[in-house]
Amino acid sequence: MAIERTFSMLKPGVLSRRIAGEIISRIEDKGFDIVAAKLMRIPRSLAEIHYAEHRDKAFFGELVAYITSGPVLAMVLEGDSAVAMLRRFCGSTKAEEALPGTIRGDYAMHTGLNIIHASDSSESAAREMSLFFKPEEIIDWKDGNDGWI
Ligand code: RTP
Ligand code: MG
Repeated sequence: MAIERTFSMLKPGVLSRRIAGEIISRIEDKGFDIVAAKLMRIPRSLAEIHYAEHRDKAFFGELVAYITSGPVLAMVLEGDSAVAMLRRFCGSTKAEEALPGTIRGDYAMHTGLNIIHASDSSESAAREMSLFFKPEEIIDWKDGNDGWI
């Protein structure tokens, strides 16, 4: 396995529901290192770039409206095979397919309100990290737990 970085975001509603701490705790418990974090309200222009691959889909308007509707916590997470690992950890896109034990499976009832984003490939991760963070906002640090987690 190789150490990777991936982009994640706790979507609008997570702060209002006061479950940000629980979700971050699960991310930490799994063993991801949080190497960048930013609380922000996504401007419409950034939302449209971030989700550009979906611009021709019927749900694009709703998707942009949701993602700009409240504060999000954008993060860069680091770990072995972090891109694929985080996707599995978040669970399936469709709410009815997200398995219990995954974040979406445990916290989301509707596909359009599926509470967490995870990059779907290394290429997407690189693109999304650069959309949301300057290089100097991503912090290199080690927790010394490499032999345990
Ligand atoms: P995300 O990008 O937000 O992490 O989600 P994802 O990769 O699992 O799913 P993606 O295909 O990229 O879709 C982006 C978001 O659009 C909404 N969606 N709605 N109504 C629908 O059929 C539908 N399909 C996707 C979801 O909120 C999804 O997270
Ligand atoms: Mg996606």
